[in-house]
Formats: sequence, C-alpha cells, structure tokens
Amino acid sequence: MAEQAAVEIRNLTKVIGKKTIVDNLSLTIPKGEVFGFLGPNGAGKTTTIRMMVGLISITKGQVLIHGIDISKDFTAAMNHVGAIVENPEMYKYLTGYQNLQHFANMSTGVTRQRIDEVVKLVGLEQRIHEKVKTYSLGMRQRLGLAQALLRKPDVLILDEPTNGLDPAGIRELRDLLRYLANTEGTAVIVSSHLLSEMELMCDRVAIIQAGKLIDVKSLRDMVSNEGAQLATEIEVDRPEAAVVLLQTKHPNLAVKQNGDKIELMVARDQIPSVVHSLVMGDVKIYAVHSVNKSLEDTFLEITGGSSDVVI
Ligand SMILES: Nc1ncnc2c1ncn2[C@@H]1O[C@H](COP(=O)(O)OP(=O)(O)OP(=O)(O)O)[C@@H](O)[C@H]1O
Ligand SMILES: [Mg+2]
Repeated sequence: MAEQAAVEIRNLTKVIGKKTIVDNLSLTIPKGEVFGFLGPNGAGKTTTIRMMVGLISITKGQVLIHGIDISKDFTAAMNHVGAIVENPEMYKYLTGYQNLQHFANMSTGVTRQRIDEVVKLVGLEQRIHEKVKTYSLGMRQRLGLAQALLRKPDVLILDEPTNGLDPAGIRELRDLLRYLANTEGTAVIVSSHLLSEMELMCDRVAIIQAGKLIDVKSLRDMVSNEGAQLATEIEVDRPEAAVVLLQTKHPNLAVKQNGDKIELMVARDQIPSVVHSLVMGDVKIYAVHSVNKSLEDTFLEITGGSSDVVI
C-alpha cells in the first residue's frame, strides 16, 4: 500500500463575495518533502494556507492531514501541524523564553528540554531571555518558528517564512527546513512570491496564479539533471576566439557567442577542462555562470513577467 500523504488538498476552493480566490486546487504532499506555493502577490497562497490551518472556512473541497479531514476532526488533524501564518501572536512584554513556556503550557507533552531544543534549532540562544519588544523582525520570525516547532509537528506550514530575515538567516532557515524534511521526515510547506528563494529551498513547487494551480515543478529532478547538461555562460575578453578554440578542443560541445559571453551546454564535471582550454588558449575569463532558467521562464511566462493579478 502506498504510504499515506502528509497533506492532501482536494478541489480546495474559496469564494468571498463574488470572487473565487482559490479555485479548485488539488495537491498531494508526502512526508519528508519541502513543498513551495509560488505565485505573484494576490495569487491566493495565504488564503490557501489559512484554509489549511482552519483560520478561515473552506467554501468547497477538502484538506486531509495524514488522512484526517480537517473539517471532520480539526483537533486531531491539527495535532500534526505547526504553522506560522502572518504575524504570530507574541507577548511583547514577556521574554522569548516566557512566550515559548506559555505556548508549551497550552499544549500537552512539551518539555523544558524541547523548549531548549527549539531555541537552539532556530538560533535564538543568545537573546531568548530578553523581552520580545526588543527583538528585530527576523528574531520575531525565528521565535515564531520555534513556537511552530514546539510540538514536533510532522507537517510544518510557513507563509512567507523568509520575510524579514537577512541573507544569513534565510540560509539558516533553508538548512533547518532541509534538516527537518530529511532527518525528521517533516512535510514542510512554504509560500513565497520569490522564485529564486523557492528554487533553493524546495523539492517541488506549485505555481499558483489567480487562485488556480498552473503547474507543479520538481526541482529535485532539475538538480539531478544537472549531472547531464547545464547551460553555462562564460564571460571572456575574446568571444570569437573562445568559440573557435572550444569547437576545436571540445568538438562535442555546442558553443555559441552572445555578446561578450560564450554560451554552451556542458556537464558540471567538464567545466574545469573547458576553463583550462580557454586559459591555455590565452583567453581571459571574467566569469563563469551556470544558468538554470527553466523554472524562471515558466514563472515569468505564466505571470506575464509582472505581479499583477488577472481575475
Ligand atoms: N477577506 C477577503 N475579502 C476579499 N478579498 C480577499 C480577502 N482575503 C483575500 N482576498 C483577495 O484574495 C486574493 C488572494 O489573496 P492572498 O492573500 O491569498 O494572496 P497571496 O498569494 O498570499 O499574496 P501575497 O504574495 O501578496 O501574500 C487577493 O486578490 C486578495 O485581495
Ligand atoms: Mg500572502
């Protein structure tokens, strides 16, 4: 028997007034996967997440968490879920630690040891005993994440989790989500309108626009394909000479010139020998980029390159 999905969304729909905000969305997310909702502003990501965690009602369709329909047994379903949607409620005049203690007291089975564990996981050890009102936005985000992790959820849902984080914080978050998915088998759902972020963070992304599911893309496949062929750009001082040189030295590579760059499809482990040939041929190299455009292309094609919502 196939393993039960961590999250299953069936024909999920939200209508407010005359507007269909989420339109017949169906998705299955297995355990151990980092899954992204990617879409421009107003696409319906937050509305979908709000329905998934019971913050707003479902107009039509179902959300199943480990097979439990949230409309039938909300409490049992939510026992599996940790979430941050919009600004998590925190008591500003209490310390971060006291906030976590407060949430621990409202749940069963959260030990002191678990509080210390989550504080460490989100990297707040240094400031956890200071009042939340002295925290930066990024630190509040981390505290929210710590709170969401307290009960060791096997489904973690984070709406725009990188908001307010600095680049180092984004990287730590990415590593943490990867650790939870790979090591603890957590199903992680994140939303963002930033493609570049989702590419680095997710195994798969659902592209959502105007409430509709446009496509689901597997980034894992794209990564494993990289072993085969990678679009690569090399910025050089003499592009014409570089093309001729590579055509001679590496006749199996398709090389072409594009302005002061040359473009080629090459396997990652061949890049050093291409660079070596150019250097030996006295071509100066200013930069080497790997270009992976497929998701970006899809995203921009779908959204028309703008963040306007088409309704
Ligand atoms: N309570 C509401 N009443 C009317 N319209 C709403 C309501 N909540 C959301 N909407 C509309 O639904 C659409 C989707 O909103 P939603 O917040 O889900 O988008 P989003 O994908 O999360 O966008 P963002 O990237 O800006 O966070 C928007 O057009 C929004 O104006
Ligand atoms: Mg949103």
